[in-house]
Amino acid sequence: MDTYLAIASKRDVREYSDAPIPDEVRERILDAGRLTGSSKNRQRWEFVVVSGRARERLADAVYAPENVRSAGLVVAIVGEAGSFDTGRCAQNMMLAAWGEGVVSCPNGVRDADAAAEICGGEVRAILSLGYPARLRDAASRSAEEWSARANRKPLSELVREVS
Ligand SMILES: Cc1cc2nc3c(=O)[nH]c(=O)nc-3n(C[C@H](O)[C@H](O)[C@H](O)COP(=O)(O)O)c2cc1C
Repeated sequence: MDTYLAIASKRDVREYSDAPIPDEVRERILDAGRLTGSSKNRQRWEFVVVSGRARERLADAVYAPENVRSAGLVVAIVGEAGSFDTGRCAQNMMLAAWGEGVVSCPNGVRDADAAAEICGGEVRAILSLGYPARLRDAASRSAEEWSARANRKPLSELVREVS
C-alpha cells in the first residue's frame, strides 16, 4: 500500500472480527515496532503480546475493555521509552498492521498499577488489533479523498511559517 494512502486511510477501529491473525502477519507487526528509531537508539521497550487470562485482566485496566477483549491481537509497549519514542513505535505497528488489512486502536490505561503488574513492567501503550468486523478497504478511495473525509483540523489551522 502507498505510504500516504496508508496514513490517510488509517482510522482507529474498535470492532474486530473473529478471524485469527496469521503468525507471519503478527511477526511483521511486531517487527515494525522493533524497527522503530528511538532516542539515542536506546530501544527501551519490550512488546508484550497479551492473551488468555492476562488479556481478561488487562481489559479491566483500560478505559474501553471491549477493545481489548474482542481484539485478535493485543500488544503492550512496556518499558522506559519516552512518549515520543512510544508514539513512533505504536504508529509503526499500527500502520504495518493496516498495510496487512489489520485495523487497530490505542487504548488509554485506567489502572496503571494493574497494567504494570499484568505486563511485567511499566505500560507505555496498549494496542488492540484485529481484522475489521465491517469491511474497510483503503483502496476504495484515493488518499486525497480519505484526507478530505478525515475528522481532523485543516492544515490552515495547523501550519504557519516563520522566516
Ligand atoms: C494516547 C491515546 C489513547 C487513546 N485511548 C483510547 C481509549 O481508551 N479508547 C478508545 O476507544 N480510543 C482511544 N484512543 C483513540 C482515539 O480516540 C482516536 O485516536 C481518535 O478519536 C481519532 O480516531 P480516528 O483516527 O478513527 O479518527 C486513544 C488514542 C490515543 C492516541
